[in-house]
Parts: sequence; C-alpha cells; structure tokens
Amino acid sequence: YANVLSMSDLSAAEVLQFIKEAQQFKAGKQVEFKRPVYAANLFFESSTRTHSSFEMAERKLGLQVINFDPKASSLNKGESMADTVKTFQALGVDMVAIRDSQTRYYETLINDPAIHLGIANGGDGSGEHPSQSLLDMMTIYEEFGHFNGLHVGIVGDLVHSRVARSNMEILTKLGAQVSFSGPQEWYDDSFAAYGDWQPLDDLVATTDVLMFLRVQHERLADSENTGFSKAAYNAQFGLTPARESRMKPAAIIMHPAPVNRGVEIADTLVECDRSRIFQQMSNGVFIRMAIVTSLLRYRGLVEEGY
Ligand code: CP
Repeated sequence: YANVLSMSDLSAAEVLQFIKEAQQFKAGKQVEFKRPVYAANLFFESSTRTHSSFEMAERKLGLQVINFDPKASSLNKGESMADTVKTFQALGVDMVAIRDSQTRYYETLINDPAIHLGIANGGDGSGEHPSQSLLDMMTIYEEFGHFNGLHVGIVGDLVHSRVARSNMEILTKLGAQVSFSGPQEWYDDSFAAYGDWQPLDDLVATTDVLMFLRVQHERLADSENTGFSKAAYNAQFGLTPARESRMKPAAIIMHPAPVNRGVEIADTLVECDRSRIFQQMSNGVFIRMAIVTSLLRYRGLVEEGY
C-alpha cells in the first residue's frame, strides 16, 4: 500500500490479507529488505501502545528507528507537520507512523507532491485508527475463525472514538452484525447507519464480542467532565460482574486501552478469562509488522518472495 490511512480504503479481502500476514509474523516469519530501511514515529498526540507497538514492529522487522520527540522538536519554532515529514524524508526515512489530534491530518500530506514516503496512520483525532482496527479484527478472527454473523457490541464514548468509526464500517463489510450501547447522546445518525442502539443489559446477553471504548475525558466538554461520576457511569454503561455473568459462554471482552479501570470495565474484569485486552496489544505488534511491510513492499524495498 502507498499509505495505510483509513479502513474505508480497505476491502474485506484486504483486511483478511493483513490478518493472514500478521499471523505469519506471529508464527515467526521474517522478511528481507534490499537495503537498510529507516522508520520514524511522529506522535504529536500522546500514546503508549500504538507508538511503542509500531517501534517494536519496525525493530522486529530489522528497520532502523529514528527518534522523534515533538516536545523537543522544531515544532516549537513553528515548523509544520508537512515540513517535519519532508525533513525526515530528506534525511532518508522510508516510512513514518503518525498520530495527531487533527481529524484527517494526513490529507495535507498525501496531497503534497513532494512527500513520497509511506505513511501509517496511528490515529487522527476523532477520525480513524486503522492499525487498532486491524489488530481488533485479527483478535476476533483468531477467536472465532470468521466474522460472518458474529454479533459485536460497541459500547461507550462513540462520538469521540476513532476506534468505533473504523470498526463499525469494517465489521459490517466483513459480515458481522454491529449494535451500540452507552450514553444515548453519544449515539447519532452516523452510527445508526451501521447498527441499532440497545440498553447494555439487553446487549450483554446476545453479543459474541463486547467491545468497550474509553471515556475520552480529554475530548469531553468541561461541563461533561465536571458532572462525571466513575461509579455512576460503570453502573449504567459499564461492564459489572453481574453483566459479565449474563454473557454468552464463548463471548469475549475487548477494549483498545488505556482502560479507565472501574469505569468502562470493573477492575476485576480487566484480566478475566473472557478478556482479550492484552492479547489485542500483543497482536498489535504483528499487525503493524504487516502494515509496515506493505508500505515497504509498495516501494520495492522488500526482497522478492517475502
Ligand atoms: N489503543 C491505543 O491507541 O492506545 P494508545 O493511545 O496508548 O496508543
């Protein structure tokens, strides 16, 4: 791929191809490159998992990773994201993973004819989070071996969630049935096109996958944060032991993390048998190895046969 920016760009078959290659990496596959390859991870917004997971993926593939700390960079002198990317390209970097708080930040970059390195979107504001979505699909596929007819509940802070947006679209393309829950004011027409809203007490009993979303306090209005009660949210919209006990026997719990323990999910359930939260993180490394390889394959840097 020239870039991996949005799940809307991927067909069901292409998602399955990413999952297959990620599974091969998980099984120990290595690739060879035609020359030394360089990557930089430009995270203009905070991240633990995505940033470190891209770096781990790049290192496992044998890439050289160039450090970038936005707080100590020339962004402080007014340099733009585009000029920062062009700088890394001029230094010899072949691909970048980028996260930024601006939704669709990447449009400026892909419309700039001077930029030709590969871009992996590590999350754009409230837009999309394709690498998270692909690792989520890999985790579901590993569990069930298919998507057709699976009922997936997406629960929580829908309106601010790039994970919800990426996942509802691709799950539908893959043949799963999507339903939503959480505060109804966070469910609007953009979600209604992909699935119904149900009270969580109904949804827990019918879903194969219950995917909880972090309450994004950094994107809530001050008034919403002031009135927020963790215990009240968990009781009304979160996973409690009582709700978990009503889930289907083989149903799993997912969350992109970081988890607000005791808010979206009761603290004791974060690592319960049904939870795939840490498996999602492990799978993220292999999915990102597949993403990075796809960017480098497009640029002719991967040896034939890999
Ligand atoms: N899931 C996820 O995107 O986590 P980070 O914000 O830590 O990268």
